[in-house]
Amino acid sequence: MVKDILVIGTGISGLTFAIKVAEENPKLSLTLISKMDINEGNTKYAQGGIAVVQNLKKDSIEKHIQDTLDAGDGACDSEVVKFVVEEANERLDELIQWGAAFDKKKEQFDLGIEGGHSEKRIVHYKDQTGKQIQEVLTAKVKSFPNVIILENHTLVDLITDHHSKSKMKRCYGAYVISQEKEEIIKICAKITVLSTGGAGSLYAYSTNPIVATGDGLGAAYRAKVQMDCLPFVQFHPTALRDKIDNNIFLITEAVRGAGAKLRNNLLEQFMLKIDPRGELAPRDIVARGIQKQIQEQDDNFVWLDGSEISKEQWKLNFPMIYKTCKSMGIFLPEDPIPVVPAAHYFCGGVKVNKNSESSLKGLYAVGECSSTGLHGANRLASNSLLEALVFAHRAAIDCIKSLYEPLPQNNFYIKIPEWKGDDYSKNIIIENVKLLREELQEIMTNYVGIFKTVDGLKRAELRINDIYLTVQILYNQNKLTNGLCELRNMVSIAYLLTKQAQEIKENKGVFYNQNYV
Ligand code: SIN
Repeated sequence: MVKDILVIGTGISGLTFAIKVAEENPKLSLTLISKMDINEGNTKYAQGGIAVVQNLKKDSIEKHIQDTLDAGDGACDSEVVKFVVEEANERLDELIQWGAAFDKKKEQFDLGIEGGHSEKRIVHYKDQTGKQIQEVLTAKVKSFPNVIILENHTLVDLITDHHSKSKMKRCYGAYVISQEKEEIIKICAKITVLSTGGAGSLYAYSTNPIVATGDGLGAAYRAKVQMDCLPFVQFHPTALRDKIDNNIFLITEAVRGAGAKLRNNLLEQFMLKIDPRGELAPRDIVARGIQKQIQEQDDNFVWLDGSEISKEQWKLNFPMIYKTCKSMGIFLPEDPIPVVPAAHYFCGGVKVNKNSESSLKGLYAVGECSSTGLHGANRLASNSLLEALVFAHRAAIDCIKSLYEPLPQNNFYIKIPEWKGDDYSKNIIIENVKLLREELQEIMTNYVGIFKTVDGLKRAELRINDIYLTVQILYNQNKLTNGLCELRNMVSIAYLLTKQAQEIKENKGVFYNQNYV
């Protein structure tokens, strides 16, 4: 059966898109794919909020535009920046109508401030903005009878002309693996939407959940879809690394917005020596400042000193951070928090136009897996949820229109073959996949991280290529598993990212090659 629309990924962008389409036309059939349960993904972990101009006495659309362009370091598409910032309030109102609530003080939004913002404009719900939005969207999307949700399914490959033998050059859906049944199913669709997020898991330390393995990016790359700006990987300056299991927990920039200071192991403040904006300089500058400090001192972390924030404020505005720190023996506000930079956000991805359409007909990309031109070389804090809302809206409108255009007939899809290769007798050795994944993360962290060098990138390319060849052999000889699917995507994206990084010849935003200083 051919679906009208297949949405792969169920974070803020995928769900917003699905809700809009399902609401607009109840006759359309939508299938949503989620790699774990519907709520698991980057959106749930977004602490900061949504950047929206609210206080017109101090703030303005122009200021938000300028802050976005400055953070993006000359690489943003200014037309995109303008419409995203202008459309922000409309999208926020809609989210509120759907049930999302944001913190208020005396009937006005309690606006926060984060790195790179010249005014307070972050609308948030405590330190759990993403979780709250995710739950609201999940509840809403489940109310539509025309939406089918498949949890625990992973994208394997997009279906393109290569599979259909047609010359039309479009996307016809996707092959996905059911983790429970361990079988690969074909889902044919007139329109396919990638909302699969980024690939923070390419790095040893990431604020992203483990599901962020760049599945949509890997599949799009294999389908020869245009991709750009992949080397603009943003590291969040302040992540708390658990001493026992090395798990990473994000400490939102809003904490620095509320007055927390960064100190080295001699307890000296160091950011003001690097940038006059100090702790609230754009994220790339703060992350590099911390990393450099770590390289120059004995301890492999710096301190985030939140003693200027009262205990009441910690508990009220940052309850999750307060509780998590306490569980690790860090008692706020007295104790400083040990923090490190961690891979956080892919500014680049599948290149899309202003309606989120990719270079492959029938394929849209929304959210972190897309490259819209908004972020340039460095995303401004709290612009990602905003981008997801604005582009999901535009994609939904465009998509509904495009379903009226001439499309392949239903009987065309019957010719698309089932997935081949499920009859391999050999079962993958899970330990091999784990070791290769760790080796890849080690290479990316050491050579393609915050500080890069020409030689380091070359070395990374060679070693990634070796892993790529090994993964190809595993893929060709074994029954496909979720873990192997992820590794295949990760290694493809690591390779492309490292290749693109060698083509960049000047430092810009988050991209920093020490040989170009
Ligand atoms: C944060 O709260 O610091 C992260 C928000 C974002 O990535 O924009």
